[in-house]
Parts: sequence; C-alpha cells; structure tokens
Amino acid sequence: MSRAAGRAAGSRVVETVPVALGDRSYDILIGSALLPELGVHLGGIVRPGVAAVVTNPTVRGLYGEVVATALAGVGFDPVTIEVPDGEAHKNLASLARIYDGLVAARVERGSLIVALGGGVIGDLAGFAAATFLRGVPFVQVPTTVLAQVDSSVGGKTGVNHPSGKNLIGAFYQPRKVIIDLDTLNTLPARELRAGLAEVVKYGAILSASLFAAIERDLDRLLACDHDALRPVIRECCALKAMVVERDERETDYRAILNFGHTLAHAIESLTGYERYLHGEAVAIGMTFAARLSHRRGLCAAETVERLVRALQAFGLPTEIPPGLDRERIAQVVASDKKVAARNVKFVCLENIGAIRFEAIAADEVAALAVGGDLLGC
Ligand SMILES: NC(=O)c1ccc[n+]([C@@H]2O[C@H](COP(=O)([O-])OP(=O)(O)OC[C@H]3O[C@@H](n4cnc5c(N)ncnc54)[C@H](O)[C@@H]3O)[C@@H](O)[C@H]2O)c1
Ligand SMILES: [Zn+2]
Repeated sequence: MSRAAGRAAGSRVVETVPVALGDRSYDILIGSALLPELGVHLGGIVRPGVAAVVTNPTVRGLYGEVVATALAGVGFDPVTIEVPDGEAHKNLASLARIYDGLVAARVERGSLIVALGGGVIGDLAGFAAATFLRGVPFVQVPTTVLAQVDSSVGGKTGVNHPSGKNLIGAFYQPRKVIIDLDTLNTLPARELRAGLAEVVKYGAILSASLFAAIERDLDRLLACDHDALRPVIRECCALKAMVVERDERETDYRAILNFGHTLAHAIESLTGYERYLHGEAVAIGMTFAARLSHRRGLCAAETVERLVRALQAFGLPTEIPPGLDRERIAQVVASDKKVAARNVKFVCLENIGAIRFEAIAADEVAALAVGGDLLGC
C-alpha cells in the first residue's frame, strides 16, 4: 500500500512513513518493541542532552521507566514532567506546569521534548515545545490508537480554553513520530474502539482499499492483533501525511479530515464532553454525514450501510442521542472555527473512499440532526 517502506528486524517489521514538508519533514516509525530502542531512533535529531518526557501518571506508570532507560542508554539526561490525566487537564494550568518543569530541567533550544501518551499529552507537549524558547525540538511517542493515526501526525498542537476546545494552539511539526504497537496492549478496550472510529474515517474518505482491509480484519483489529493493526495504522499515517503535505495549515483540503466532526463536536459539547469519547461522537457524526449525503443524492444507500456496519462491528454508537436541543446544535455548529456566514463546509460522502465538500447552512444541519428524518435510510 502507498509509500511506506518496510524493514524487517528479525521477525519484527518496522515501517517508515515519510512526511514531506520541506525543512520540516520527518519520519513516522511503526512497529513493535520500539520503546526500548527509542534512544537509537532519536539519533541525529539533537545531540544528547536534557530530554524532557512529558506524560501523565497512567502512561508514566506503564512506560515511563522503559522510555527513561532507553534515553539514558544513548546519553540523554531524561527528566519526566507529569500533568494530570484527562481532557479536562488539556489547559493552561497544565501548560504552566510543563513550562515550570522545562525551566527546572534547564531545557535549551538544543534539548529534546518527548510527548509520551495519548492525544492530550501530544497536544500539550507539542504546544509547550512550539512556544518554550520560541521552539524546542520535539518527538511524538503516541500510545493510543487515536494519537497514532491522527493527533501525533501533522503538527496541530494546542490547549483548550474554558470557552472552547483547542482555541489556543500552534502548527508545530514533530521531528519524528515513533509508534510502538506494544503500547496498545494496555489500552482500555473502549479507547481502542474509539480510536478505530478515526481509522474507519480514513477508509471512508480516502481509501476504498483501506476500508476493505478494515472490513476483512474487524475481529483481529478489535483483538489488537499487531499484524492486522500495523498495515492499517501505516496506511492511516500515510493518508494523513498526504493530506498534511497538500494543506499543512488547513486552508482548504485538510478539512477533509473533519468528516463526521461537525456534528461530533456539537454532540460532545452538548453532552459536556463526558458521555462520549471523541471517536464515539465521530462515529455518530460520520453516520449522520453519510445519511445526509444519501438524502442529497450524493451516495448510494449501500455506501451508508457499509459505513454503519463497520462502525457497529467495532461496538461504536451510530445514532444521535435523543433530546438534543435543535437551536443549541445550530449555535454550536455555527460557532465552529471553520464556519463562514453560518454555512458549514460539510464533508459529504460520494462513495467509500470519495468525498466532496458541500456548503450547508448550520440551521439545516441542526434541523436534520434532531428532526428524525435521518434515522436509518
Ligand atoms: N492535534 C491533532 O491533530 C489532534 C487530532 C485529533 C485529536 N486531538 C486531540 O487528542 C485528544 C484525544 O486523544 P486520546 O483519544 O488519545 O485521549 P487521551 O490522551 O486522553 O488518552 C485516553 C486515555 O488513555 C490513557 N492512555 C494513553 N495511552 C495508554 C496506554 N497505552 N495504555 C493505557 N492507557 C493509556 C490516557 O492516560 C487517557 O486516560 C483530544 O484532546 C483531541 O483534541 C488532536
Ligand atoms: Zn477526530
């Protein structure tokens, strides 16, 4: 598939996906047992010195020691900076804590910041790296499916503000992304399934062959079988790299990745970010977007059915929770950063692997979401 290069290390396969962004280019490494040799993979990025590992107590307990040992093994001086676990802590208070840690560790422009954790840690550590001393080199070591296929690649970093998600941020690319599939062995099943929603998204919007591979290997993916996960995660990373190379700063094409996200963001916001994991809300949002596309005559009923079957096989929700307020959905949709003149640049499905952008009024999206017209099809 695509442009990933494979390298066998014994019986182990390590894949490399390049992200070509001129002087901000980097590689994504995907394989098993990569954490113990992390130091080796960081060779050439910076000279060994202080390496600040930003993580949370959950991930530190599982992987903090192996990472610190691997860094020390090649001459780095590892310092761990911990922030509390959870989306609620992707905020300015945690950022301040990271800056304090970086100052205390005497991090310099030639030092290294290592983001070890899920998307929350990656976004926080990445933004700290973008801003501390006006930029310190950083690497992503993502440990959730969502972070491995989405948030660790592409350079979006940031924190939440009380009035909205990701309102404060920067584009700042990592120097490398190191994906150790072994970390997924400890991931709670619900987090694994939610991450797989984003995997389904890549197939639905960009690759019929990826979607077919997902359909074929549903059970093995759910069982966290590395031989099934590796090519799928590699393909997602390659697709994300392609999108980011074409439109790094989301001036237009990168918005393709928002498939299912318009409604997902509204559902997350209106349920207080507590009822659904992000991927679960995205599963509902993608189903909605596909049904809306079908209603507009853009895709066949069979396309919608295939999408829903895959999501449901992963145990993901597909139906909009009852009782959401139509006016508030319209408000949230219209207040999205990407909305112009109350028209949403909505990602519609034409087929599995093919989309098109449609301008749809926020009010219409909200009306369809609560009107019951798009339940099933
Ligand atoms: N920057 C981007 O382009 C981008 C894209 C998508 C999402 N995001 C952001 O990503 C965040 C969501 O990321 P997430 O879904 O990874 O959530 P998360 O970082 O909160 O991780 C989910 C949970 O899993 C735990 N965990 C992480 N790795 C583990 C492991 N290997 N074993 C056991 N537990 C583990 C975490 O401690 C946490 O409790 C959101 O803040 C979202 O805005 C960013
Ligand atoms: Zn998402």
